[in-house]
Amino acid sequence: MSALDELYRQIERCQRCELARYRTRVVPGEGPETASLLFIGEAPGWHEDQQGRPFVGPAGQFLEELLASIGLKREQVYIANVIKCRPLGNRDPLPSEIQACSQWLEQQIELIRPKMVVTLGRYSMARYFPGESISKIHGKAKKQDNIIYYAMYHPAAALHQGSLRKIIEEDIHRIPEILAKIDKIPEAKAGPQQLTLF
Ligand code: URA
Repeated sequence: MSALDELYRQIERCQRCELARYRTRVVPGEGPETASLLFIGEAPGWHEDQQGRPFVGPAGQFLEELLASIGLKREQVYIANVIKCRPLGNRDPLPSEIQACSQWLEQQIELIRPKMVVTLGRYSMARYFPGESISKIHGKAKKQDNIIYYAMYHPAAALHQGSLRKIIEEDIHRIPEILAKIDKIPEAKAGPQQLTLF
């Protein structure tokens, strides 16, 4: 069994927060252990909770279209969420739930060691760009410990707010360009005020 499969078995048994009581299925994430690109959404919705797979509803369909626009299939990238179980009624995740779940995402990233982590929406952005606002930093990236972090709007936001569609389409198009020049990108300086965004 691969290290990632072993991790999934642990996540499936997780009882670290209340959401464990209401889930149909845990949604650990999916994709190759060798993926260069790792996308992080927010939390499973109804479809994901039913199937145990991330981004399989309407937002997932749009994410697949976005990936196709840069020549990628979803099987080529890793897709995870900040929260592994569905919050009832699709409410926003609580800080305590994010905290309880964060060790799983950390372990996923450690095992996969992607070149680039793409945050989708506010919750995953807050992990890597604390204190920033999505309207300011979407489409921007920073390099930290040799991983590029790149913030994008959540695909579901574009489904609800048509004006965001073009922005998210433009932002995903920057990904191949950033991956191509990854070695030339300088590391961000330490400290919250000294982000090197480009
Ligand atoms: N939205 C998310 O953030 N994640 C999913 O898996 C599905 C919808």
